[in-house]
Amino acid sequence: MTVTRQSFQFADRIPSTPSIGSTTVTSPDHVHLSFGFAAPHLFPIEQLNEAATEAITSSGRQALQYSGAGGQGKIRQWIQSRSAVHGMHVKEDELLVTYGSTQGIDLAINVLVNPGDHVWVEAPSFFSALQSLRIAGAKLTSFPIDNDGVKVELIEQALLEAERSKAPLPKLLYIMPTFHNPGGVTLSVERRIRLAELAQRYNFFIIEDDAYMELNFTGEQLPTLYSLCPERVIYLNTFSKIIAPGLRLGWALAQKEVIQKMKLLMLGGSVGVFTQEILAQLLERIDFEDHLGQLKAYYKNNRDIMVDATRQHFGSDVTFHLPQGGFFIWLAFNPGVNTTELLPLAASKGVSFVGGRSFYIGQDGLHYARVCFSYCNGEQITRGIRALAEAYKEWKSGTVQIG
Ligand SMILES: Cc1ncc(COP(=O)(O)O)c(C=O)c1O
Repeated sequence: MTVTRQSFQFADRIPSTPSIGSTTVTSPDHVHLSFGFAAPHLFPIEQLNEAATEAITSSGRQALQYSGAGGQGKIRQWIQSRSAVHGMHVKEDELLVTYGSTQGIDLAINVLVNPGDHVWVEAPSFFSALQSLRIAGAKLTSFPIDNDGVKVELIEQALLEAERSKAPLPKLLYIMPTFHNPGGVTLSVERRIRLAELAQRYNFFIIEDDAYMELNFTGEQLPTLYSLCPERVIYLNTFSKIIAPGLRLGWALAQKEVIQKMKLLMLGGSVGVFTQEILAQLLERIDFEDHLGQLKAYYKNNRDIMVDATRQHFGSDVTFHLPQGGFFIWLAFNPGVNTTELLPLAASKGVSFVGGRSFYIGQDGLHYARVCFSYCNGEQITRGIRALAEAYKEWKSGTVQIG
């Protein structure tokens, strides 16, 4: 039988472009400052090996069953006690273990947003969340950030204006208050308090994506939005940045009714039951504070190396906020610089970064670049920033015709 190839119409909600262009460069010398990845040498490999062996040998037949052997309960208890350390006291039914926090973002959006609903985000924002919101058919409006996080006074003005003119109010605000990706900034206490008040007054939900909060280089701890307003916040966190992203385990904290709705959308039962067994064994084997201390020391040192290299090679041609935690530095070039054009030139010099455009809902962000200090080592960071500066100088002097 001859099969003729016919075009096929996929569902309208499938996006035409991936959330971010991934780099295809595989040369071993290439410096991937674009990768927002954890440092692989800091994965607790030996303890994970023991943990996996234990999960198989001592209770493999139960651990591999749909319901697992008890590790899920232990993970949940760990999350509850860790959340309490950060001032969030949650009951058993206010917690959901997710397939990374990306699934948490998607579930939270899908339980709240109908096509056409208004959702407010930061500018810049996390591209995977923007993608999920687009797929959900949300109408997006963005609010700029400064060194103290999103400008809550502009959100307040927009709410007042919408109320006055009877325009639609937002149903949801998606925000990364701590060590923002890509901005590196942290929302001030005053703004957190005001935002929590606004969510209550105007009856919208906040997704608080707190993926980097444990990677805190100063020890200064601010109240989470969830602790300020548990009725209107869905709090998300992840084991990706503190243990290993390949585990694909994260969690959501919210009021019982919200968690119940999220569960309804989570087809297939609990996520990664066996992985949870391994993680439960792991968390019993490591001293978490000690492990976290090692991560923070390494990432802080890498940040310092990146900051020094950036100051040395770019001088006053870029500005940035000094992040006090997390993975990223957000470089601001002069308006007029086009970092999308810089991408191929940088790649030819052996370095990748993420162009600012990917983090905006519209055509903005062209004169920004995100560089990540967590994945590459110090030598690579220095080499990568130097190569990026070379590419930029060539671009600026107009010696290279791009496009
Ligand atoms: C702000 C933010 N939220 C969520 C995630 C997703 O993490 P996970 O691996 O838990 O899905 C990331 C990872 O890059 C992130 O930067």
